[in-house]
Amino acid sequence: MRVISCYSMKGGVGKTATAVNIAYWAAKSGLKTLLIDMDPQGASSFYFRVKPTKKSWGKRFFEAYKALVQHIKASDYENLDVIPAHLSFRNFDSTLGSLTKRTDRLRKILKGLSKEYKLIILDCPPTIGYLAESVFNASNLIFVPVIPTTLSERTFEQLNSFFKQNDYLRKKLVPFFSMVQYQKSLHKKTMTKMQGDYKNFLSTHIPFSTDIENMGEHRSPVDIYAGKRPANKAYFDLWKEMIPLIRRAK
Ligand SMILES: Nc1ncnc2c1ncn2[C@@H]1O[C@H](COP(=O)(O)OP(=O)(O)O)[C@@H](O)[C@H]1O
Ligand SMILES: [Mg+2]
Repeated sequence: MRVISCYSMKGGVGKTATAVNIAYWAAKSGLKTLLIDMDPQGASSFYFRVKPTKKSWGKRFFEAYKALVQHIKASDYENLDVIPAHLSFRNFDSTLGSLTKRTDRLRKILKGLSKEYKLIILDCPPTIGYLAESVFNASNLIFVPVIPTTLSERTFEQLNSFFKQNDYLRKKLVPFFSMVQYQKSLHKKTMTKMQGDYKNFLSTHIPFSTDIENMGEHRSPVDIYAGKRPANKAYFDLWKEMIPLIRRAK
């Protein structure tokens, strides 16, 4: 079993769109896949038409979290299950704050699902804190969507510094360009510069595309309603590029 995550400290960069489409392609390629929607806003649950969990996970989040399995829901797609967002993710940081070995618990809990799933995908909220650190520990690889602008470049630098300062493995971070607008010279310039600065950028870019924006309307992965469009091919290519990395990741 491997755990991967879509993470960035920035919101609106394409984490959820990526998590949803990658989960779709992984499942379609035959891997038993579990997508965990860790963002209390519940966007990825929404795209897979899975209702947010209402049943309380208990007072102490983690006591109930051990019973995570109860919250797994089947999606409309073969091989793909989803754990919907829950409001308790909002209290994740304060709950974890009172526990020892706090940032290693998620990793251990997910390990318990290794018989059931080949791949777990974590769709993360744009926060830095115990939840994010739990994700860093639990993930074999962390895919980071980067919109090629100066501000996003800084955000990615900050993430790298955070990893360095806190002794997380920087090679777990795998950036890729998201929402690329090729007609913008700033995008082109930033991409060239960042690919020089960070050697492990994926070669697949996700273009800015209304076909991706429309996921909200269709509430499904892009392949379902725009299968022949370039945006769909981009996610499929991204997935294909991820496969060997995920396989090799420790
Ligand atoms: N490549 C893209 N092109 C155009 N719109 C996109 C693209 N990726 C995501 N979006 C849209 O941008 C918004 C934010 O994307 P989302 O994946 O939810 O970001 P995040 O999870 O990082 O906050 C959503 O409305 C989504 O439909
Ligand atoms: Mg999101």
